[in-house]
Amino acid sequence: MDLEFAVNGERFKIDSVDPSTTLLEFLRLNTPFKSVKLGCGEGGCGACLVVLSRYDPELDQVKECSINSCLTLLCSVNGCSITTSEGLGNTKKGFHPIHKRFAGFHASQCGFCTPGMCISLYSALANADNNRSKEFTVSEAEKSVSGNLCRCTGYRPIVDACKSFAT
Ligand code: FES
Ligand code: FES
Repeated sequence: MDLEFAVNGERFKIDSVDPSTTLLEFLRLNTPFKSVKLGCGEGGCGACLVVLSRYDPELDQVKECSINSCLTLLCSVNGCSITTSEGLGNTKKGFHPIHKRFAGFHASQCGFCTPGMCISLYSALANADNNRSKEFTVSEAEKSVSGNLCRCTGYRPIVDACKSFAT
C-alpha cells in the first residue's frame, strides 16, 4: 500500500518504506523542512515536535495535536497532514506571530530548540482556542513549553515570550 500524507501543504506519496523509518528521519532526509531536529531521539527534549492533523470520521472533524516525530513511525501518518515550524510561517509567506514574539523577546540563542518551542506554544494556543471556555493563562503559557529542553539554558526570555500570549 502506498503511503500518502502532506507536509506543510506539500503532498508526499511513497510506495516503499522501511517500516522502522521515523517521521523525523523522513523529514530530515527527504524534505527541505530542517527546522525539525534530532535531539534526544527518545521523546524527552521536544526538538522534533510537529503538529499532526488527522481526520476523525466519528466526530467528522480534523483533530490537531503536537507529536514527537522521533517516536512516530512514518507509516502511522498515512492520510495525515504534518505542520513544522516552517509551515507556521517563513521568510516567503511571512513569519507567524509566535516566531515574531520569540524574536522580539530574544528567546532564541543557537536556535536548535526554537522550532520545537514554537510548535509547543502553537499547540497550546490552538488547544485553548478550540476550548472556548478555556483561557490561555500565564500558568498555561509557562507549562506550554515544559516538555522542551533548551541546551543554551535561556529559559527566562522563552517563558516571557510564551507569557506574552496569556490573556
Ligand atoms: Fe528529543 Fe524527539 S528528539 S523528543
Ligand atoms: Fe540553543 Fe535553545 S536556543 S538550545
